[in-house]
Amino acid sequence: MTQIGQDIQVAKQLLEQNQVVGIPTETVYGLAANALSPDAVLTIFRVKNRPAFDPLIVHIDSPDKLDRLVQSIPEPAFQLAEAFWPGPLTLLLPRKAIVPDLTTSGLDTVAVRIPDHPLTLDLLRALDFPLAAPSANPFGYISPTSAQHVADQLGDQVSYILDGGTSQVGLESTIVGFEANQPTIFRLGGIALEAIEAVIGPVAVRSHSTSNPKAPGMLSSHYAPRKPLTLLAANLPPTPDAAGGALVFTTPFEGIPAKNQYVLSPTGDLNEAARNLFSYLRALDKLPIRQIYAELLPDEGLGRAINDRLRRAATR
Ligand code: TXA
Ligand code: MG
Repeated sequence: MTQIGQDIQVAKQLLEQNQVVGIPTETVYGLAANALSPDAVLTIFRVKNRPAFDPLIVHIDSPDKLDRLVQSIPEPAFQLAEAFWPGPLTLLLPRKAIVPDLTTSGLDTVAVRIPDHPLTLDLLRALDFPLAAPSANPFGYISPTSAQHVADQLGDQVSYILDGGTSQVGLESTIVGFEANQPTIFRLGGIALEAIEAVIGPVAVRSHSTSNPKAPGMLSSHYAPRKPLTLLAANLPPTPDAAGGALVFTTPFEGIPAKNQYVLSPTGDLNEAARNLFSYLRALDKLPIRQIYAELLPDEGLGRAINDRLRRAATR
């Protein structure tokens, strides 16, 4: 039986026993365990049914704790950390030997971030180790943005879920690496490309590759609902379909029953759309419909990351 609550001491005790705990973050809920314990990390892979070649993100509460984990911090990484931590930004940095191979899938970089959520920051402060935490969904399914989403899918395998309300960003963190002095985005996410470029100048984006060895978790069939999902260009409604459902930006489609449609942001706010994306996809997946139609959003700000998730959800 899983318990949902707000008791940091309960979470701390379980984590100290190398167990996994559901944790809230501003992006999505994580499935956390001691990042420095191969045993604990192995449990994450087992519970998520995640292939071992897909490395994990390590969460800390303060930049002071970077020293223990990484060998060096390139200047642009430092600038980004200053601008966006705590927040939805993950940096790929050369790791120290204290980080187990299992956590990084044997890569020589470790992915690190400081999440922006008061409960999880308190928990991290109370622990003397950092937390490895992938999104708390079964591998390949939509990421959870509430404690209930985690309980619905992993409940019987996670004894405690720390409830921090609804994730306020709603998209996973943006992942940036710095190999060969070239800042590169490996996953579009909760910090927009434009915001990153405003701090460090032009960056490369490699997040669309379907065989990207740097971010194997970004393979296309990620984030997929179980129902088939068809993408539509904005303003191009599907042919009328009484058995269809739709995910739209501001305005429902003609020809799809109104009760089967979810509007991401009636006012056209991309941040609001990001916050609603995963819970609406889950809701659509549960409706008695045969097919989900999803409208692509403007390719700017968080719209880029939303479109990235929709494209992956549509691939099967
Ligand atoms: O917002 C987030 O980042 C959430 C919350 C819980 O913090 N976590 C998350 O973790 O999205 P996960 O495991 O679902 O996605 C982590 C991604 C994967 O695509 C993985 O391949 C990539 O990070 N990754 C981790 N370490 C890496 C490394 N050393 N080099 C390249 N990619 C890495
Ligand atoms: Mg994930």
